[in-house]
Amino acid sequence: MSIGSRIPRREWLLATGASLAAAALPIVTFGTSPKPPSDNNDTTSDADRVRRMQWWHEAKFGMFIHWGLYSVVGRHEWVMENEGIPVAEYEQLAKKFKPNPFPAREWAKLAKSAGQKYMVMTTKHHEGFCHFATKHTNYCSPQQGPGRDLVREFVDAARAEGLRVGFYHSLMDWHHPDGARCATDEAARKRFVEYIHGQIRELLTQYGKIDVLWYDVAWPLTAEGWESERMNKMVFELQPDIIVNNRNLLPGDFSTPEQEIVKDPHGRAWESCMTLNDSWGFHRADDSWKSSKQVIRNLIECASQGGNYLLNIGPHADGSIPDECVRIFHEVGQWTQRNADTIYASDVCQVSRSNYASFTRKNSTLFMHVYFWPGETVTLAGLQTKVKSARFHATGEDIAFIQDRFRVRFTNLPADAPDTPVTTLAIECETEPTQDTLMVRKERPRRGVSIG
Ligand code: GLC
Repeated sequence: MSIGSRIPRREWLLATGASLAAAALPIVTFGTSPKPPSDNNDTTSDADRVRRMQWWHEAKFGMFIHWGLYSVVGRHEWVMENEGIPVAEYEQLAKKFKPNPFPAREWAKLAKSAGQKYMVMTTKHHEGFCHFATKHTNYCSPQQGPGRDLVREFVDAARAEGLRVGFYHSLMDWHHPDGARCATDEAARKRFVEYIHGQIRELLTQYGKIDVLWYDVAWPLTAEGWESERMNKMVFELQPDIIVNNRNLLPGDFSTPEQEIVKDPHGRAWESCMTLNDSWGFHRADDSWKSSKQVIRNLIECASQGGNYLLNIGPHADGSIPDECVRIFHEVGQWTQRNADTIYASDVCQVSRSNYASFTRKNSTLFMHVYFWPGETVTLAGLQTKVKSARFHATGEDIAFIQDRFRVRFTNLPADAPDTPVTTLAIECETEPTQDTLMVRKERPRRGVSIG
């Protein structure tokens, strides 16, 4: 496709330059990565946080794995509580839990093929069952049905695929005798806090370098009750490069919006975690699968706003991954392979308004990800910089365009979307692209009340 229809520089300047300057509307610009918090009471410095988090900001996309005794039941990871199952009855599942050999290899391969860069596995969910070798309880994989250390397998599998390793660990515990009474009984609190701290110590000493510690649900204690500052201090002493989330009720290194994509209002680093259907743990009857297009749109949206996307799988009790989930991840992977450099290590992108596209940015290149293909012309309003050239990102084929002050139109495009499920246009701009559609509304020339 020819690029002959680009507007000559002089014409564009005449059409835009003077009035852009005159309009002087505030255009919000963003830095390349979210500013770390400076007002928290945790134990590491801002500079150290920037160092520890660099890989994570570039990674953008991770796999969450929820796997436990609830996977044997197949009715969501909250089944124990939401069906009121007595501890003595639920515990019996530990003997029935008999995974296939080394299922984590399949997870890690799938994560890699989908374009994910790190994996976070439940080492203990609220049910209390531990997947690792612990001296604090025999309610753990090595001493029950599996007869082996499943966290070890997970760590080895992730490393074999070159993926970073994260541990999810639930503070709330429905099984431990002190798990509820710790709120009102000081001796129970002390025992329970030592239990959880002790397990975290095991997790961070038995498996080499761990990249992420993902705490969850602090009920029924406060940060003080959990001795969370002492907890984080121990974590950083054991693993100086690790990053931790905010769910032990301290700010930690990143925030954890759940099932929604919202950037942190204070500019902190954030990771949106999301299920692929409506359950984290395997739920036999949950058929509410997201499409691969929706997953890709979510990933783009997170990257665009400077966040990460942690997408969950809930393996069967034997460790195999539900077919539907494998299919969706493969489709996502086909797209991320072609579009990797529009996502990884991308910069926060201010351009956001379109009815059929979302955007990412690297320096002055704007990536327009068109998910509802409009046909021969794709149009973007209010772009505040001159477009130098445009091409299809996947093929490198040039795209013709016409730009004036209010819009840029990419023309002579195919009637049907050239890529699936999202077609990405790479738009080379003269400076960092920003968008101002309010300027379009206010300043577009208007005519008489009636049409002429
Ligand atoms: C919630 C749920 C839990 C899930 C987690 C993932 O805290 O209790 O089941 O593990 O979110 O973010």
